[in-house]
Amino acid sequence: MTVRRKKKIRLKWKNISILIGTLLLCILLVITIPKIIPKNNTPKPKKEEKTVEIDNKEEKYNQLDHIETQIEYFNDAYLDRYIAYKRIHYNMPNDQIIKNVNMNLDQTPYEYTIPAKYLNTEKVLVNKYYYLEENYVPDNLETISRQYALSNMRMVHEAKEAFEELSSTAKKEKLNIIAMSTYRSYSYQVNLYKRYVKQDGEELADTYSGRPGHSEHQTGLAVDVYNKEENYTNFEKTKEFDWMQQHAHEYGFILRFPKDKESETGYRYESWHYRYVGVEIATYIHNNNITLEEYYATKIKDW
Ligand code: DAL
Ligand code: ZN
Repeated sequence: MTVRRKKKIRLKWKNISILIGTLLLCILLVITIPKIIPKNNTPKPKKEEKTVEIDNKEEKYNQLDHIETQIEYFNDAYLDRYIAYKRIHYNMPNDQIIKNVNMNLDQTPYEYTIPAKYLNTEKVLVNKYYYLEENYVPDNLETISRQYALSNMRMVHEAKEAFEELSSTAKKEKLNIIAMSTYRSYSYQVNLYKRYVKQDGEELADTYSGRPGHSEHQTGLAVDVYNKEENYTNFEKTKEFDWMQQHAHEYGFILRFPKDKESETGYRYESWHYRYVGVEIATYIHNNNITLEEYYATKIKDW
C-alpha cells in the first residue's frame, strides 16, 4: 500500500470517528436537556390537581389523628391553622388545639379582627377579635328602674327585665346589687379608653379596658355592679358577690371575666362585670365553668 493510500484511509476513519462522536453527542444532549431545563408551569389537568389536594388533606387529617371525625366543633376551614398551632404546641391534646384556634388564640388580639356576629341577640360575642361598628347601637335600649341602678343606666329590653328581677330578688334578701355602668356608646368608650391609656399606658389599659368597638358594654347586654357600700373593685369581698356566684345564671347572667381565664377572655379578673346571655347559655356556662369564648368556640357554629 502506498503512503498516499494509507493517508487517505486514515483520513476516512478520522471523518467517520468525528461523525459518530457528533452523533453520540447529539443523543446525549437530547436525553439530558429536558432534565436540566426546569419544567414549564403549564397547569396540570383539573383531575390531577384535585387528586393532589385530597392527598394533602388526608395527610393533614393524619397529623391531627383524624380529629375531624371525633370533635364536633372541628372546622375544616381552619385546618391549616390547627396544624400550624400544633407545630408550636406539640404536647397539647388535639381537642384543646381545635378549641384554642376556634377562640382565635393562634392570632394576635386587635390585629386579627372580625365583625361581631349575631348582633341584637344574646349570643353576640364582642372581645379583642370580634368588634362592633362605630355606628352600632343595639335595638330596644331601656332605662333600668332607679331602685336597682344609678341614673340613666340603659340595657337591651330582655337584659334590663332580667336584671331588675335579679336585683329585686336580692333586695328581698337585704342585698344591694346596683347597676353602675351598662350600655356605653362607641364614642363614650373612645374617651374612656383614651383616659385609661393616658393614666396607665396602652399595655396596662388593654388588660382591663376594651378598645372602642371591642367593649361588650356597647352591646347593651353588659352590666357593672356594686353594693352601694364598697367600691366596685371590692365587689368580690361582698355578700352580694357570693349571691351572684350562686344565682346570676338563673337570671341569664354570667361572670364575664373570671379569675384565671385571662388567656381566653383577654382581660384580667373583674368580679363586678356581668353579661346577659339568657338563662340557657348562662346555665351551661355556669355548670361547666367555662367562658363565653369557650362556649362560642365549641357550641356556636357560625361557619
Ligand atoms: N372592662 C371591660 C373589659 C370593657 O371595657 O369592656
Ligand atoms: Zn364592665
